[in-house]
Amino acid sequence: MPGIVIVGTQWGDEGKGKVVDLLSERADVIARYQGGNNAGHTVKFGDRSFILHLVPSGIFWPGKLSVLGSGVVVDPEAMLAEIEALRGDGVEVGANLKVSDQCHLVMPYHKAFDKLREHLRGAGKIGTTGRGIGPAYEDKMARRGVRFGDFQPGYEHELKERLREILEEKNVLLRSHFRSEDALFDVNQIFDGLAALVERCRPFLCDTTRLVNEQLDLGKTVLFEGAQGTHLDVDHGTYPYVTSSSTTAGGACTGCGVGPTRIARVIGIVKAYTTRVGEGYFATEQKDNEVYRTLQTRGQEVGATTGRVRRCGWFDAMVVREAVRVNGIAALAVMKLDVLDTFPTVRLAVAYQDAQGTRFDHVPHWMGQYGAVEPIYEDLPGWQTPIVGITELSKLPQQARAYLNRMEELSGAPISLISTGPRREETILRRPLV
Ligand code: GDP
Ligand code: IMO
Ligand code: MG
Repeated sequence: MPGIVIVGTQWGDEGKGKVVDLLSERADVIARYQGGNNAGHTVKFGDRSFILHLVPSGIFWPGKLSVLGSGVVVDPEAMLAEIEALRGDGVEVGANLKVSDQCHLVMPYHKAFDKLREHLRGAGKIGTTGRGIGPAYEDKMARRGVRFGDFQPGYEHELKERLREILEEKNVLLRSHFRSEDALFDVNQIFDGLAALVERCRPFLCDTTRLVNEQLDLGKTVLFEGAQGTHLDVDHGTYPYVTSSSTTAGGACTGCGVGPTRIARVIGIVKAYTTRVGEGYFATEQKDNEVYRTLQTRGQEVGATTGRVRRCGWFDAMVVREAVRVNGIAALAVMKLDVLDTFPTVRLAVAYQDAQGTRFDHVPHWMGQYGAVEPIYEDLPGWQTPIVGITELSKLPQQARAYLNRMEELSGAPISLISTGPRREETILRRPLV
């Protein structure tokens, strides 16, 4: 079996963690390809519940290999803390976790600048997770990043000199641009702190590109676990309200060093409604009304990373259709259908209209249009009966099946999995996903 990409179709938090965990049972390798600890992927089984930020969601299955590809930016402190917490909960994390020595590090100044920049933006803020992810990718692209592999015995002097140069600029920015009174970044302090952390990470480091390709050569199944979602992608998302990486399926190739010919299938994860954390375009958003309160409370829509309350709204077909196109999605997994259980009517946005009343059917590509879009809805009768934990399609109320059928028609990809609760077992497999 070849490579399979799992990708979010909306603005993240679709339920990727649950699906990756489910599919991991039949996979050999689970690899994150982008993002960092801005992600928060929830996995629940039995009475256990975990939130993963960097460690792939397949970690709970013994005998599987978990990989962080070079496209991931790693805060070593956060990674080590996550590993320790998992171990404390009895989860084995050792030789089964491999981290690319080409991963860029999230440095202390990245975390500081993420927060300072957001503060400076004021009302125009992005609403980032504050984990330093954007600044880390900025430096990667600007060719002033620091990677795990830079910490080599005998190369300390060169690395320190490079860090000194980087910090000269950072300190000017800290004082003149951000007007911060915080202590200047000190080369020795940062170097020593990081060197100690990297030493503790060293057992996990290797050439993951080679590893993943070798596994594929052996006919193993590799799941590429996307973080965030299609509309947070730096190219294809609602720019500038996006994250700083390639969240879409193509990112699996660049972020793990595998050729596109290795990817056999892309699976899109879609929430039965829509949520978003942070600022930016959200045409079907419901604010301060009963619909919002129901979605937020029944869906427990609170950010898994920052604890921020998520914005909520109806299903938006334009968003998911564009994700199907951009990622080449072959199958969809619909999550959290049970959250809609109590609505007398369920709504799907099937088109938009602009301020002049012109109808259109794509997500706007520039900020000027973001605020001027009205969704055109189609209403369907709700099922008003609990579906939590249902595992067979035939047991779903007819209205729920009609809603799924309409979602499928509008999205342009078949729905293969339906999730009726947060736990592994609360799942309907309509047809094989892989
Ligand atoms: P991810 O970032 O895409 O992995 O998603 P998150 O973990 O951030 O958010 C998804 C949330 O929905 C988590 O709290 C999951 O436990 C929960 N969840 C997943 N599937 C279902 C479902 O079918 N029903 C309900 N009620 N909750 C679900
Ligand atoms: P998972 O993998 C939802 C959002 C932030 C912000 C924007 C930029 O759990 O789906 P960043 O810190 O990345 O620079 O923030 O992206 N964001 C997410 N939203 N789920 C995520 O990850 C997210 N990761 C980042 O809220 O709007
Ligand atoms: Mg999440």
